[in-house]
Amino acid sequence: METKQMIIKNNEIDNKNVIREAAALLSEGELVAFPTETVYGLGADATNEEAVAKIFAAKGRPQDNPLIAHVATVEQLRGLVDNLPDYVEELIKAYSPGPLTYVLPTNGTCATNVTAGLSTIAVRIPDHPVALSILQACNLPIAAPSANISGKPSPTAASHVYEDLQSKIAGIVDGGPTGVGLESTVISCRENDVVILRPGGITKEQIEEIIPVADIVMENNEKPASPGMKYKHYSPEVPLWLVEGNAEAIQQVVDKEQHKGKKVAVLASKEIYQQVKADERFNLGGNLSEVASRLYDALRTFKEAEVDLIIAEVFPETGIGEAVMNRLRKAMTRYIEQ
Ligand code: TXA
Ligand code: MG
Repeated sequence: METKQMIIKNNEIDNKNVIREAAALLSEGELVAFPTETVYGLGADATNEEAVAKIFAAKGRPQDNPLIAHVATVEQLRGLVDNLPDYVEELIKAYSPGPLTYVLPTNGTCATNVTAGLSTIAVRIPDHPVALSILQACNLPIAAPSANISGKPSPTAASHVYEDLQSKIAGIVDGGPTGVGLESTVISCRENDVVILRPGGITKEQIEEIIPVADIVMENNEKPASPGMKYKHYSPEVPLWLVEGNAEAIQQVVDKEQHKGKKVAVLASKEIYQQVKADERFNLGGNLSEVASRLYDALRTFKEAEVDLIIAEVFPETGIGEAVMNRLRKAMTRYIEQ
C-alpha cells in the first residue's frame, strides 16, 4: 500500500483539503496517522471493528492491549461512557482538551477490540488543532495508539511515523513536531479518587488540585491495571543505562565503557551535556519540559548512530519528570546508583 503524505505547514488549518482527505480515509475504515500535542497517533474509526483490527496488525500490537478513543468534544466523550462522575466533569473543564486520558465504564459504542474486551474505555480530547479538525471533520470517535511499531519509542515527528509504518497505512498527516513529547496521563476514574495508570503530560500535582490520587501504578505489576504497562516499551534497541549523579559520575562510567572498546552515547540535560565527553551526545535541554519533548527523538537518533551503549542522566521525579523517569525506567537495561 502506498502511504500518502499530507503536509500541513505551521499548523495552518486552512488546508481544508488535507483535513477532508484524512477524515474521508478514516470514515472509509483506513488508517491515518496524525499529530496530537503529545505524540503522533495512528487513527482508525473506533466504531469499526475491522478498521481497528488494522491498527493491531500495522503496529504488531498485542491484542490484549486496549486503545484510547479520541474525540473532539465533551458531548462526544459522554456518548462513549456509562456515566460521568462530577469530579471528571471538573477535570475535563480544567485539563481537556489536553494530555489526560479518562478510563471510565464503556457504554459499548466503540468496537470491542478498542477496549480489548474490558468493561472500561479510555477516552481523551487531544489539544492539537490538526487532531481536533480531523476529529470534527469525520465526527467519529477515533481509536489512536501512538503511531510507532510496538516496542519502539513513540513518534514525535511525522518522519518517525514514516520510518515505522510506511506502506502499512493509508496516510500520514504531517503537522510538524509534537509539543509535550510524551504520551498522555492515563487515569482510572473511580468513585471518589483516581489511580494513575500511566504518568504523562498532566502531572499528579495538577490532578490533585481536583481529586485525590490514590496510587500511581508502576510497571512490572503481577496484574497490571493498564494492560500496556506489562509490555517493554520505548526500547531504543541499544542497551540504556541510567546513571545517578553529576557530570563527573557520568563521565567515569563513559570512560570505563569506552576503555572496553564500546561506542558510548550520552543523553543529558544541558548542564551535564556541556561537561561530558562521549562518542555521541544529545542535549535534552534546560528544563524538564524540554527533556520530555526531546526524549523520544534522542532514543531514535542513537539507534541510527549505531552506538553500543546509551547512558542517560537520572532526572528529578517532580512534575513532568515523573513521566520522563517512567519512560526511561521502562527503556533501561541497568541502573547505576551513586
Ligand atoms: O498521548 C497519548 O495518549 C497517545 C496519543 C496518540 O493520544 N496515545 C497513546 O496510546 O499513547 P497507546 O495505545 O500507545 O497507549 C494507551 C495506554 C496503554 O498503556 C493502554 O494499555 C492503556 O492506555 N489503556 C487503554 N484503554 C485502557 C483501559 N480501558 N483500561 C486501562 N488502560 C487502558
Ligand atoms: Mg504507545
